[in-house]
Amino acid sequence: MIDINNIDQIIKDEKEILRSKSKDYKENFSKIEKFIESEILQIESLKKNKQNIIPEINFRDLSSNLSDFKNEINKRGCVIIKDVFDDSLIHQMNKDLESYIEENNYYEDQKKKSNIDQYFSDLQSGKPQIFGLYWSKTQVNIRQSKELDVVKKWLNSLWTHEHNGETIFDPNNELVYADRVRRREPGDKTLGLSPHCDAGSVERWIDKGYQDVYKDIFADNFAKYDPFNAAYRNKTQEIESPAVSHVFRTFQGWVALTAQGPGDGTLQLIPIAKSMAFILTRALMDDIGETDLCGSKPARALSVNPTYHSMLLRGLVSIPKMNAGDTVWWHPDVVHAVEDHHLGNGYSNVVYVGSTPYCKKNLAYAKKQSQKFLEGKSPPDFAAEDYEVSYKNRATVDDLTPLGKKQLAL
Ligand SMILES: [Fe+2]
Repeated sequence: MIDINNIDQIIKDEKEILRSKSKDYKENFSKIEKFIESEILQIESLKKNKQNIIPEINFRDLSSNLSDFKNEINKRGCVIIKDVFDDSLIHQMNKDLESYIEENNYYEDQKKKSNIDQYFSDLQSGKPQIFGLYWSKTQVNIRQSKELDVVKKWLNSLWTHEHNGETIFDPNNELVYADRVRRREPGDKTLGLSPHCDAGSVERWIDKGYQDVYKDIFADNFAKYDPFNAAYRNKTQEIESPAVSHVFRTFQGWVALTAQGPGDGTLQLIPIAKSMAFILTRALMDDIGETDLCGSKPARALSVNPTYHSMLLRGLVSIPKMNAGDTVWWHPDVVHAVEDHHLGNGYSNVVYVGSTPYCKKNLAYAKKQSQKFLEGKSPPDFAAEDYEVSYKNRATVDDLTPLGKKQLAL
């Protein structure tokens, strides 16, 4: 655990250490900036010609030999996997989830507890229509589904999971990460999420584990930096805060419960797997205050903002039309946002799902999480709103399949 009592001094010292890893930190940044700009230009040109930017594949094609396609994901840091769930099944699941929200009067509860969750409070657009619900049958059944088991193993296999003889994680053994639900009303204009990354903000500069993850970036070896090498990703430490992830996710993602496309208040991504290199080295430049990291604050999401990252933000694209049962996945370093306005006609609903392979760090979390599951409380990573303790129709241990039990470390 990182102590933040002396955070200004820590940031100042660590920035000095990070600069000293390079022969010329300004030159290093300038090289990284050039690379990122070339990626941005490519994205802008694809956007202009209405061509596909985010790699897409159908669930049934995952078993094929896909080396070119995998290279594309390595570059873009994200992928859409379509038709993972059968249409009628997903429609029923969506209905069940809506009944769960309404029968249990979530909206009333939420008003009473809305000050507990501060994680997104510094992001310009404020809090979106994201629900502090984790244990509905819909969510639990999606997590323990055979379909997602296949998808996550495939996603894990995109990573290098061994380093110097050490197994960082087991790609064929999944735990689950209980996360929330997004249910966005048509016409909603007040809510959205400005561009950010999860899994650590200032930690990415000051934590020793993260410094090792990114060591090639700081030490003039950007060309060698591989965002899909898991080395040291299991060694990172977080600043304590509700809603900062304590697990290692090979991908963050969600399952669409309803059809949604650009303009429907959906996800946006900057599809550049190496963009974290730009964010990290930008903060070391001389125009940034000694104790500043381009606006990132402890215990908040990592902020990507127009003041310091305007070039990068040109690469922000809305994901294409998704149908119910499609899924989208992004690398934990990929910048993402939720559109400010929902101009479409229907609810845009998603269940968040992460890919959390078996490793010591994830297992330790899963054990704490399973206790919360049994009590119906919010998982350890999230604000302790505990809405569901007395909710009707909450999933219990009787609803778990053998795979579901194993994935919850029960
Ligand atoms: Fe996020």
